[in-house]
Amino acid sequence: MARPTITRTTVGIVGAGPAGLMLSHLLALSGIESVAIDRRTRREIEETHRAGILERDSVRMLVDSGVSNRVLTDGHEHKGIDLRFDGVSHRIDFQGLVGASTWLYPQTDVFIDLATARERDGGDVRFGVSDTTVVDVTGSQPGIRFTDAAGQAQEIRCEYLIGADGSHSVCRKEIPQAQRRQFFREYPFAWFGILAQAPMSAPELIYTRSDRGFALISQRTESVQRMYFQCASTENVDDWSDEQIWDELQSRLAGDDGFALKEGAIMEKTVLPFRSFVQEPMRYGNMLLAGDAAHTVPPTGAKGLNLALADVRVLTEVLERAVLKNDTDALDQYTPRALDRVWKAQHFSYWMTTMLHADADASPFDIQRQLGELRSVVGSEAGSRYLAEAYTGWPTA
Ligand code: PHB
Repeated sequence: MARPTITRTTVGIVGAGPAGLMLSHLLALSGIESVAIDRRTRREIEETHRAGILERDSVRMLVDSGVSNRVLTDGHEHKGIDLRFDGVSHRIDFQGLVGASTWLYPQTDVFIDLATARERDGGDVRFGVSDTTVVDVTGSQPGIRFTDAAGQAQEIRCEYLIGADGSHSVCRKEIPQAQRRQFFREYPFAWFGILAQAPMSAPELIYTRSDRGFALISQRTESVQRMYFQCASTENVDDWSDEQIWDELQSRLAGDDGFALKEGAIMEKTVLPFRSFVQEPMRYGNMLLAGDAAHTVPPTGAKGLNLALADVRVLTEVLERAVLKNDTDALDQYTPRALDRVWKAQHFSYWMTTMLHADADASPFDIQRQLGELRSVVGSEAGSRYLAEAYTGWPTA
């Protein structure tokens, strides 16, 4: 095999999704060099539909660090959400409860903004690479080997290696079994997601519990809508016609208030995986994990991307101290500081999920308890405030 071309840099980043690119961007602002690589092409990442809600501090991060203002012009500020059950909607007023909003701004747009900013600023990002392996993660010069998009063997040698390579992370596996703990929770359902060419049915998100299961009404633009409904994890999208999908969504949203969704042609159908996962520690030697490489949350709390960006905020700070101030003890703080938020978000996502989804094994007691829980949340300021605080994002220092 041809000898690889060797690139030396300070931080080598496996994964050029939002977490990897945001890290690379923030490091560049502090004068720290990095190279980011991704298995997928830029086009492939742009065309993958993911979640759409940004916490207040995620928006600030994009705007204040100079990535783009587009979230403020093209995104939609949401000052609350609706929780709907027993056919009645209850608004959770984020602004009134905690003085914060969220922004509807799809992850693909966050990615586009970041990739554009890295290009604008001369960042070294290599998309469409293959055969990625990482080596010497506990050594002083960890490495990333891969074949670039042109078929050329490449090797990156760095001081710190970052695994921001998503839920199928190759980096995560470098931590020996004896030195890591993995926490899993499986759910006996999934989400059926659609993109539809239709007008907006509501100005904000509607999270619905019905006897037929959960549904979520979200949006993308004035004319494209995103919606989900709880389904079996084995569900096959091709078994569902547009008409069946609309009937299912309409019946889950139905109520005495006469609410009805505005329908239209369905452009895309996908079944979303649904699980909770954490791997600890998030640092091993000179390798540090960020985002889905270290944790997965079910989508109900809209936390996945926000949590990845929160990891990156902490990671940037500890890397700055390690690289610029030679304070390598700072790296020890990464796992506990990141995990503090990760487990709060795990709890919140689990809680929203179990409060709103139908469980086939639920007893009549379980069902009444679930409705009692929902009434406690919407009927009490303290209950609503917890939801508002967690959903808009715990403040970051
Ligand atoms: C979305 O718009 O895709 C979306 C919004 C909120 C969620 C999950 C997904 O909790």
